Amino acid sequence: MDSKKFEGFYKKTIKERQEILAKEFSLTEEEKKLLTTETNLPISNADKMIENVVGTYSLPFGVATNFVIDKKEYLIPFVLEEPSVVAAASNAAKLSNGFITKTDEPIMIGQIMITGTQNPEIVLKKILESKKEILKEAEKVDSVLTKFGGGPRDLKGEILNTPTGKIIELQLLVDVRDAMGANAINTMTEKITPIIEKISGGKALMRIISNLAIYRKAQAKTIWTKQKLEESTKGKIKGEEIIDRIIQAYEIAVSSPFRAATHNKGIMNGIDSLTIATGNDFRGVEAGIHSYAAYKEKGKYSPLTKYYKNENGDLVGEIELPITLATIGGTAKLNPMASLSLKILGVKNSKELASIAASVGLAQNFAALRAIVTTGIQAGHMKLHARALATQAGAKENEIEQVAEEMINSKEINQANAEKIIKKIRDKSLNN
Ligand code: MEV
Repeated sequence: MDSKKFEGFYKKTIKERQEILAKEFSLTEEEKKLLTTETNLPISNADKMIENVVGTYSLPFGVATNFVIDKKEYLIPFVLEEPSVVAAASNAAKLSNGFITKTDEPIMIGQIMITGTQNPEIVLKKILESKKEILKEAEKVDSVLTKFGGGPRDLKGEILNTPTGKIIELQLLVDVRDAMGANAINTMTEKITPIIEKISGGKALMRIISNLAIYRKAQAKTIWTKQKLEESTKGKIKGEEIIDRIIQAYEIAVSSPFRAATHNKGIMNGIDSLTIATGNDFRGVEAGIHSYAAYKEKGKYSPLTKYYKNENGDLVGEIELPITLATIGGTAKLNPMASLSLKILGVKNSKELASIAASVGLAQNFAALRAIVTTGIQAGHMKLHARALATQAGAKENEIEQVAEEMINSKEINQANAEKIIKKIRDKSLNN
């Protein structure tokens, strides 16, 4: 690859970029068409979102069903490539007694790192004595935020011991309402820097949002009864047994960070899918949630859900994690699919979206644990895989389910078997 050909790439028109790319990588006509086909994200909008745009990239857009959260029914948009995730979330929600949630106010943290002060402890005290004046200055940045009830709330500080010496870490706490908050926070921390530098006599090395949003958490809780769990296995496994196995799986995640990572990955299958569907910053959400998984247990990476039995012996599931999802700003305006997702969700504000995300995370985690400790995770994947194979082998809409099921039962999930089953079904219907 000749990188020279990409110099000044950003100055080119989209068409020119596509041509350069196509030429450099000898793209086939079909591949070129992928770049020039406008899917549901208009390429002109994509060009406003990132640099060097040459095309758009589509992913499946599905909806998870059966969610009742704080007594309200939701259809939840999911965008992801992995089979079984949407089905698993929908099934977990169906088996649950509905989710009850609690969300913090949307407070985000902006960090300002002050270097080069003579006596950091005394300087920090001086800065905090001027808190009122500093917060007032920060407030000037975003009058719209203040109008909607948000704005700077507090200024905290501590001394960090780093290899190059003591640094004053300031944390500006801002209620960002329905935004993700990065823009407001970054602008505010930059705005208050001159006052802080004047008071401290030091230099602000960094002014940036922290993704570890410990003040913006969401909690969700639900119950899965032993009766429903037993029925879901058609009585093959006792409800009590399933519950004991799930609790044991959770306890293993508490003991093993290797398992906790995968346990939390299951949670993120749902939360990321919703984050992407609503046009939110999935890297920020991921960074916040995984760092919180370590922060909450003082550095030990831990599971973000918890399971125990209630007095009836039913399974209680709980989740608590920071959720930094916005319902305004960001890319939702540019990406019609994100706007559509928010419309489908019908959420009033970012807190409601956070309560949905927490519920989805809990449902997804429960679904994964239940599958792993009973049938194994591959069984769910197999169904979708078998359906895809049936379609590829030429099964018609009304034949797909039967072909998939027969393939799974025969434990021979491949195209040749799919073709054989289709032939059998058709021969049989000819003879009838
Ligand atoms: C796969 O995407 C997610 C799981 O591995 C989660 C888990 O193991 O809990 C099934």
